[in-house]
Parts: sequence; C-alpha cells; structure tokens
Amino acid sequence: MTMASKLLQTPTSARLVVRGGRAIGGRAPLAGDKSISHRILLLGALADGPTRIANLSPCRDVTRTRAAIEALGARVDALDDRIVVVTGRGVRGLGGPPVRIDCGDSGTTMRLLAGLLAGQPRRFTLTAAAGLGRRPMDRVIAPLRAMGADIRARDGRAPLEGTGGPLAGAEIVLPHASAQVAGAVLLAGLNAEGTTRVRYPAPVRDHTERLLAEMGAPIRFDMRSATLDGPVIRLDPAGGGTYTVPDDPSAAAFLLAAAAIVPSGEVRLSGVGLNPGRTGFLDALEAMGADIAIDGWREHGGEPVGDIVLRHRTLRATEIGGALVPRSIDELPLLAVVATQAVGTTVIRDAAELRVKESDRIEAIAAGLALLGADIEVRPDGWAITGPTPLVGADVDGADDHRIVMALAVAGLAARGRTSVSGASRVADSYPRFVEALAALGGDVEITAGS
Ligand code: S3P
Repeated sequence: MTMASKLLQTPTSARLVVRGGRAIGGRAPLAGDKSISHRILLLGALADGPTRIANLSPCRDVTRTRAAIEALGARVDALDDRIVVVTGRGVRGLGGPPVRIDCGDSGTTMRLLAGLLAGQPRRFTLTAAAGLGRRPMDRVIAPLRAMGADIRARDGRAPLEGTGGPLAGAEIVLPHASAQVAGAVLLAGLNAEGTTRVRYPAPVRDHTERLLAEMGAPIRFDMRSATLDGPVIRLDPAGGGTYTVPDDPSAAAFLLAAAAIVPSGEVRLSGVGLNPGRTGFLDALEAMGADIAIDGWREHGGEPVGDIVLRHRTLRATEIGGALVPRSIDELPLLAVVATQAVGTTVIRDAAELRVKESDRIEAIAAGLALLGADIEVRPDGWAITGPTPLVGADVDGADDHRIVMALAVAGLAARGRTSVSGASRVADSYPRFVEALAALGGDVEITAGS
C-alpha cells in the first residue's frame, strides 16, 4: 500500500509528528489540483463522449465528486488512482430517479453539485458530514433560486434538497468572492434559458470558466465576471478527449513555505498550476522578500502552468488584504505561519471568510501558533503577527481541518524539538502525499497512532 492510500485509511486519532532542525531541500511529489479535479469530473459527466483525465487528484474530497457523478449515471473507468476515463451523458443527461449523495466534508462537491443538479430532471438530496454540515449554504441556494431553481435547506445548512427543472438565465451579483458559488451559477446556467451573468467582487480562481471555454461553451469572462449564453446544447470533451490536471498550487504552497522559513531551504517544483486566481500566495511571499523564480510557463487545457524554485532568504513583514485575499484564501493560515519568521508585524485583514472554512481558521491557526511560541493577535478578519520568533515544539490541535494540520506541521519544521499535530488523517482531504513530500525534502516527519 502506498503512503498516500495508507493515509486515506489512517484512524482519525492519528497525529502528525514533526521534528525541527533539519534542512529542507530538493524536489517532492505534488498532487493534481483539487479544484480543477472536481470540475473536470463534473464537466466530463456533462460532455458528449469520453474524457481521459490524467493526474486527477486522489484526495478524499475529489473521491466524493467522483462517486457523485457515478451515482448520477456517468461512467468512470479508473486506469489507476490518478488516471480515469469519464464518459459523459450530455449537458442535460444526468436526470433520473431520486438520488441521495453524501458530500462528506467536501464543500466544493456540495456547492458545485447544487448548481449542476438545479437543471437536471431529478429529485436530489445532498448530505454532509458534521463539519460541512455547519458551513453556510444559503450563499449558493440564493443565486440558484434567483434562476428559478427548486432547492432548499433548513437554516441555510446541509442537507440540501431539491428537484431539477427549468431555469432562467439571470444577472447574479455575488456578495462573496467565491469560486464555488460562481461555478455553481455557471453550471446551472448551462441548462438555463437565456444569458447568465455572474459578477464577483474580486478576482477568484476561474477554473470553471476556463474549462467551459475549452469545451466549446459560449462563455466570455474576465477577472470579475462571466457571461454564458444558455441553454448550451453540447459540450465537447475537454482537451479533445485527453485532459491533464496541473499540479496543485495549494499543495505546493506547504512545501514552498517550509523552504521559506527553514534556514538554507530550497525547493523545486514543476508543473504547478498558476491560475491568476491562485497565485496570491506567491505574490505575498515575494513581497516578504522570498527568492522565487518561475520559469517554463506553458498551458495545460487552458490553465497556465510553470516550474517554481524557492530559496530561503531573510523575510520581512507585509500587509495582506483586499483583492489579494481571495487569490490566497486557502494559503492565509500558512502565510500566518511564514509571518512568524519574518521581521516586523505582518497584518492579514479582510479575511473573515476564513471563519467559515473547514474550521474557524482564524482561531485555529492562532491557537496552534501561540502554543508554539508565536506572537499572534487575533482580529475579527485576520491576524497581526510579529516576528521573527523562535518556535518551540508542542502538542497542537489541527482542528480537524486539513489545511490547519499541514500549516502547523510546516511550523513544526521551523520549531526546536518535537511538534505533534492532531488529525493527521485529515491531510488526505486534499493532499494525501503531504507526509511523503515533506520526507522527500528531508523533513523529519511521521504519523503516530493515538491521540
Ligand atoms: C474552491 C474555492 C474556495 C476555496 C476552496 C476551493 C473551489 O472556496 O477556499 O478550497 O474549488 O472553487 P470559496 O469559493 O468558498 O471561496
């Protein structure tokens, strides 16, 4: 069994144990991009014909989306855990008898499916595990209802219930810069009569838009809006039937951060996705004085991709807010970790959205970093972190949240002594090879049983 598949089965009580003090350097395995993997599966299920998808993310969340399209009648043939062939059933081909789909803790699965199912003729129930069951769903329900969808939830939380049916294109102005919600609106727009226009207050990852264009949909988009003329009669399989998912910049971020804060660190990663809605982390690190070189820019299925080299340098504090926030949303807790090693006070603001992610990430990372000795002040919409502070290993709580577990493990690499993070198995929600990757870079890291 590979380390990655072992992690998927690790008991929830397992801990990630890291010992600081080792140099970090070299190359390491990444993972296919999680956001794009969800979308290519869903859109592949709507295509006319088969799509061979290479480098699909093997993470737990994407497994939920894969099971969902199978439950809806699309055929998925796995050549191995990262290459699958999805045989689509056409843009309006996922109707059928009532279906109940368990989205687990995958918010992207639930929100994108809500949009896709709004226009498919069948009754549906989307259920969630406890963590996802606490997260807000009204933000996706409201715009879909504005398009005429029959979809509801009690108190704006999962489970979601509805019946797919006729939809009307609409002008949707989102109050949140959310790619999940924008993506849901566009998936609904495929089966809507007339033009759907979705606007968001700041640039977000536009993977849905790029894939739809790649598949021949009549879509126009820029960094603030997308316009789709519906109903769309046919979607061609992406990449002419062969689509390679770029590697995940949000997974890469953990390795880059490790090299950025461990003296003499140096990491080289190739084939990393560089969608402009995802590169805020690199911009912030650069502003802090990190030595980052990106070359080999190329395109994969409409997405920019490149090779990244990061070398350790003395870092200085920065300010992160405004439009940079949605472009680095999943990496902000990690930037808080990096800020503990930068000279001066880093302020991260406009990020209250972090409170409704897999955990309250503002509180969760602050609690962990404070136990490691960081100087971090919690604010309603972010933190003020003053560095550099020498970190000292401790037992910390991963808050049952993959990105918090991994961010605290990275902090542990820069700490003296042993850091033990609860919730090791959560890592597989997005990056099953995380432990293997840190070990490949020379990190002293292991998974231990028990709490
Ligand atoms: C995602 C969008 C972001 C991000 C999440 C993945 C996506 O969420 O935090 O991890 O794939 O669209 P929001 O759309 O809620 O900001």
